[in-house]
Amino acid sequence: MVIDLLIAPCGQLLTLAGGNDAPRRAAGLGDVGLVADGVVGINVESGAIEYAGPQADLDRSLLSKSSTTIEAEGCVVMPGFVDSHTHLVFAGSRADEFYRRGRGESYHEIAQSGGIAATLAPTRQATVEELVELAGQRLYRLYNNGTTTVEIKSGYGLSRDAEMKSLEAIRRLREKSPGLIFSTFLGAHLIPPEYEDRRGDYVELVIEMLNEVAADGLADFYDIFVDPLAFSKEEAARVVEAGSRTALGLRLHGDEFGDDGTAAWGVSVGAMSVDHLGGIGAGGIKALAGSATIATLLPATMFFCGHGKYAPAREMIDAGCAIALATDLNPGSSLVYSMPFTMTLAAMQMGMSAGECIVASTINGAHALGISEKVGSLEAGKRADIIIAGVPDYRELAYHVGCDLIRDVIIGGRVVKRMYVLPFSSYSNCGSIDA
Ligand code: NIG
Ligand code: FE
Repeated sequence: MVIDLLIAPCGQLLTLAGGNDAPRRAAGLGDVGLVADGVVGINVESGAIEYAGPQADLDRSLLSKSSTTIEAEGCVVMPGFVDSHTHLVFAGSRADEFYRRGRGESYHEIAQSGGIAATLAPTRQATVEELVELAGQRLYRLYNNGTTTVEIKSGYGLSRDAEMKSLEAIRRLREKSPGLIFSTFLGAHLIPPEYEDRRGDYVELVIEMLNEVAADGLADFYDIFVDPLAFSKEEAARVVEAGSRTALGLRLHGDEFGDDGTAAWGVSVGAMSVDHLGGIGAGGIKALAGSATIATLLPATMFFCGHGKYAPAREMIDAGCAIALATDLNPGSSLVYSMPFTMTLAAMQMGMSAGECIVASTINGAHALGISEKVGSLEAGKRADIIIAGVPDYRELAYHVGCDLIRDVIIGGRVVKRMYVLPFSSYSNCGSIDA
């Protein structure tokens, strides 16, 4: 119980404490646990938080004689972001599709001649070392933007070899990275072109791979893209039937562009989270609200696809859904590395408040991955995954768009980023922000 790294004084300390047992919903979704005169004490060797709270209540006898202090006056100190939905492992670029959408072609039109299938060939050709290097480059961009826990999906291989190679790349990345990484098998991302005329055979292959992945402990979760572009609910049900006999948790891509009834179905089969939900209807909202399944919203995808249609977050929050936010980082529909930018979209396009954006990006993201006892809030015993943002008020995080506000990133008690710029000053009076 020794504190050898202290963050003090903190302009605003957001502990997010008290939400480990259940995801935050409704009014609780906006509760960031603000402490005005706070400090955080860390034990560097264990990488855990020893204390987070008011300066006045810190037991100073815990401080080691050689402790160092990171000063955070005028800054926001809070848990690192938990990005619970990324596709970090892929090779190749789809920049051409990005510009085609800018000129008016839709994501679905482009999918006929490219889309997910366009990422298959370069990913299949890449070596596992190349995939680790590419994913590592992306991972450090995430860290730089304040994300400290990341979920990573396979799903751009869609053959036994290439899926196993992708999962192996995630395993190697996990071994050498400071932050927690979770691995998801997404063999059910798309029916690959060579199986177009025998879809059932590919579903069978997915089930075989799933059993192999589970037996070898190669993933924590499995995921299915349920969509007219990808897998029908009947096909998904066959995969879930097999998956439910493994220890892997289920995640779903669902109701992305329209109301396919996937949210309600996901609840009925015990999905940990259903993600996207841009087209969710009243039935899906009701089912999610009455369940433990997290509704993970990915507004960066809607932005990047040029949809103009976002998930009905306000309606979902009012109904009682447990909302998380994530980037969906991938080469086709969201090459977005930043949770702060995702929060900007959540605020501007989905009407979420500053507090709701932060809770959905931290402790509720941790719930989506089933790791709320480890990360997502600043409490004694939890991992010291902490970010310091150079703004005087947490309501300014989503407001400075496209600006790197994350001054420091600490992962497992280790400083992985220190940016030597002056924080925006507290002369800007935030007292009257209604956020
Ligand atoms: O989550 N929706 C399905 N899959 C990815 C995008 C895949 C791609 O276009 O490469 C997503 O948006
Ligand atoms: Fe996705």
